[in-house]
Amino acid sequence: MVSRLDIGKHVSAVEIIVGSMLGATEYVADALAEKFDSYDISNHIHLNADLADLNPQATWLLCTSTHGAGDLPDNIQSFSAQLQQAELAHIRYLIIGLGDSSYDTFCEAAKTLHRLMQERGAQCIQEPLFIDVLHHPIPEEEAAAWLDKKLKEEDLASAIKNAEVNP
Ligand SMILES: Cc1cc2nc3c(=O)[nH]c(=O)nc-3n(C[C@H](O)[C@H](O)[C@H](O)COP(=O)(O)O)c2cc1C
Repeated sequence: MVSRLDIGKHVSAVEIIVGSMLGATEYVADALAEKFDSYDISNHIHLNADLADLNPQATWLLCTSTHGAGDLPDNIQSFSAQLQQAELAHIRYLIIGLGDSSYDTFCEAAKTLHRLMQERGAQCIQEPLFIDVLHHPIPEEEAAAWLDKKLKEEDLASAIKNAEVNP
């Protein structure tokens, strides 16, 4: 299988991959980027992610809402299709879902991406975070607090920085 992951165009320690229809997840991504900045961790937000643009040595943070009846937002669908062909054995990732628990398909898009990443051999380095916008009307606060806790208490910051040097 041919991997397209070798052709990275820029180098960041964290690739933030966003799926959003109405913009809420973009705010979340901005808050996460600010948090990484505050820990001096380089990062890049992808609003239309393409595998060829992603640094395979980086930690990938997939961050998506769910729309329709458990569907992926439009801007992350082609990335999801690319994942189905990809060789991701050395990829480390985090996942954050935004959803509304009044739907049976709560955070289904994030769960779908999580499943795909695992099927392709990638390693999830923290438990996924699923934010229920019904109870957290400002999801970026919830996401930034989660990330801050992980970076602080679980020393995720040095794990991410070390991965850049020793993939
Ligand atoms: C038409 C529509 C369908 C939705 N379907 C789901 C769903 O199936 N599961 C879920 O957990 N949330 C669902 N949601 C809630 C969104 O995921 C939630 O509002 C999220 O914050 C939107 O983020 P975005 O602005 O980044 O797209 C739906 C929202 C809308 C407007």
